[in-house]
Amino acid sequence: MYINPSKIKGKVKISGSKNAGLPIIAASLVTSKKLVLSNVADISDINNMLAILDKIGCKVKRSKNKIFIDSFCNYMPLLFEEVSKFRASYYLMSSYLALFSSVSIKMPGGCKIGSRPIDFHLEGFKAAGCKVEVTDDIINISVKELAPFIYRMPKKSLGATVNLIILASKIDGKSIIENASTEPEIDDLIEFINKGFAKVYRRRNDIVIYGNKEFSEKITHKIIPDRIEAFTYMCIGLNSKKLAIKNIELHHLKAPLKYLKMAEAKFKIKKNSVTIYKSDLKPINVYSNHYPELSTDQMPLLYPIFMRVPGQSSFREDIYEERFSVCEELKKTNADIKIDNKTIFINGKYLLKPSEFYPTDLRCAASLLIEGIINGNSVINNLNYLERGYDNIYKKLKKIGLKFKIK
Ligand code: EPU
Repeated sequence: MYINPSKIKGKVKISGSKNAGLPIIAASLVTSKKLVLSNVADISDINNMLAILDKIGCKVKRSKNKIFIDSFCNYMPLLFEEVSKFRASYYLMSSYLALFSSVSIKMPGGCKIGSRPIDFHLEGFKAAGCKVEVTDDIINISVKELAPFIYRMPKKSLGATVNLIILASKIDGKSIIENASTEPEIDDLIEFINKGFAKVYRRRNDIVIYGNKEFSEKITHKIIPDRIEAFTYMCIGLNSKKLAIKNIELHHLKAPLKYLKMAEAKFKIKKNSVTIYKSDLKPINVYSNHYPELSTDQMPLLYPIFMRVPGQSSFREDIYEERFSVCEELKKTNADIKIDNKTIFINGKYLLKPSEFYPTDLRCAASLLIEGIINGNSVINNLNYLERGYDNIYKKLKKIGLKFKIK
């Protein structure tokens, strides 16, 4: 993608959340016979998940951002190529265990942003009575009879919380996930599952699940807006004349807005939208962690912005140990970026060099896109990363005035 210097302005509508849509589609298999999901992003991770559902016999139809699922499926080992193309394919482990008491699945793929082990998922399954065997690239799990369980997560994990909620929703009796993930995508999954027969709720740091083996006849559900996509456009807006970001859930964006306020960014908030204006910013010290803190997925979006803000800003990453590859790419611009253990220090400069970038993961690609939009005359390769998580990205960018060519 070759980006020309452009004047950004206008409005952009945020799509459904990737990280809420993926668990809900996996949970569809065990919650209801027929489903209508709306606000479903048209992105490659979700489309790969739908392709797997199609292969195991579900009937899936898409009409714009709505999908219709007829969730009856057959047991088939999950060894398809699509499984290793994205991380969330592993949510099908719990759906399969609930439906067939057994699963054989390829190791999930996903962005390389650290070691990303899956031990909490597997330990949780064991607590429910499962037997687990892992070879180099295949996970085999089976169970005679699933039993209600209590599993304490050693560290908060979105993915493991999803798998254990889905599994427990089909086990008669009361299960508890202690130290569960606090992310809003989990609350969307809980709301969805509660439309079936199971009862799921948060109790302080835990999630309590009363499972039920029955299937609802039909469920309709609207996926929450994508807070990471929203923040991506908010960062783009900081260099625009005026950019309105519509269809957002403001209370999911409290931490990002807090940091923008600290940096003295100009923005106006309405009920479901925020309008951002070009701003003279001040340096800030940012910290990413579990919700309600700033998400680890949102933090790299700030680097290109603060590479141009006079003074030193700092960014501390506590979730992933290798989420710094974006810095190597950004340094091609001559930006002053230093990494000390878990913290990135950026000293703002006025003149940075337009460059050619090779992103290595989804949010790295989004950060480099923001850099390219600010600087112009920049090139972004490996667009497949952007397409994993940003719905209609090229159409949306064009609509807000970005001039670019894709070879
Ligand atoms: N962890 C373990 N063992 C496990 C699971 C997690 O040690 O069994 C550790 C991880 O290594 C990490 C921490 O726990 O240090 C949190 O990982 P988590 O399980 O929460 O991550 P995830 O579920 O694999 C999801 C999103 C990521 C997002 C993280 C933020 C999806 C499909 N992925 O990953 O999204 O960064 O939560 O916690 O929902 C993205 O959208 O670009 C993306 C990478």
